[in-house]
Amino acid sequence: MQEIIEKLASVREEAMSALKAAPSVDEIEKVRVKYLGKKGAVTEFLKSLGAVDPSVKPAVGKAVNEARDAISRGIDGRHSELKRAEDDLRFKAESVDVTLSGRRTVLGKRHPLNRVMEEVLGVFTRMGFAVREGPEIETEYYNFEALNIPKLHPARDMQDTFYVKDDLLLRTHTSPVQIRVMESMRPPLRVVAPGKVYRRDADVTHSPMFHQVEGFMVDEHITFADLKGVLTVFCRAMFGAETKVRFRPSFFPFTEPSAEVDISCVICSGKGCRVCKSTGWLEILGSGMIHPEVFRHVKYDSEKYSGFAFGMGIERIAMLKYGVNDIRLFFENDVRFLEQF
Ligand code: DAH
Repeated sequence: MQEIIEKLASVREEAMSALKAAPSVDEIEKVRVKYLGKKGAVTEFLKSLGAVDPSVKPAVGKAVNEARDAISRGIDGRHSELKRAEDDLRFKAESVDVTLSGRRTVLGKRHPLNRVMEEVLGVFTRMGFAVREGPEIETEYYNFEALNIPKLHPARDMQDTFYVKDDLLLRTHTSPVQIRVMESMRPPLRVVAPGKVYRRDADVTHSPMFHQVEGFMVDEHITFADLKGVLTVFCRAMFGAETKVRFRPSFFPFTEPSAEVDISCVICSGKGCRVCKSTGWLEILGSGMIHPEVFRHVKYDSEKYSGFAFGMGIERIAMLKYGVNDIRLFFENDVRFLEQF
């Protein structure tokens, strides 16, 4: 009997150290089959119990059962060990260091020209003006002729205008939208027309592409007083309630009479400085009563209808509002500049 017990002990030891070394679930299974399977080493001991002397049978049986239970527990134990090691690896890989500081999300900002454009349109839409747009590639008719700018007018010079071909050009102002809108609608009309315009010109205050807003109002009995009222409200909304507004006689082919609108200098409030060239005033837009020639082109009866129109450059207004001294800053897209608005 002593011999069987010792053999059993060494089988048990062997099984336990095989388990300890088993690197995977598959290997554990092999150990199980080898010792506890139908033809396993421990199973063979059980089978051989019949031949054992009855007097020692209980003791041997007990030893075999203990060996089987021990190996069985060893298998379960090794299983959980492997599982734990696997979990540890996974947790490590998935772990997040909650003490790390967060990454800052950089928020985009609206471009200063878009902000000014929206602000300008906002003032007029709140006064009941509708927003309309026209094409950037125009014909001579809409850009010049219908606006009473005759063939030999200096504005038509190749030096100032980008021509696409004979009769096609990049619009030099947003005024042609007046013609397009009036052709397709009847008074009463209150419209603002924002958009890009192009001129062969480039220095610190001029860019070959820039933005304008055109505006016009047409009905029976519209007078210069309406022009003054609307544009005064606009200037004060844009530059502050204290802003003084001045209407200075001027000339445009498509308006008669014409006036340029000045505001008291936003830098020195009228005392005189470098920006207003010591005049105390800044010119911000052109305007006037729509010329009967313009009405004739769109077949409006100028005996019945009258109206005013105006046009302004958005870059110029943005430069005055924010104290920017070089127009090119708006188009360089340097975030250090753009971030300041
Ligand atoms: N179109 C003119 C320009 O580009 C601006 C302008 C002046 C528009 C007077 C108008 C106006 O409608 O009445 O310089």
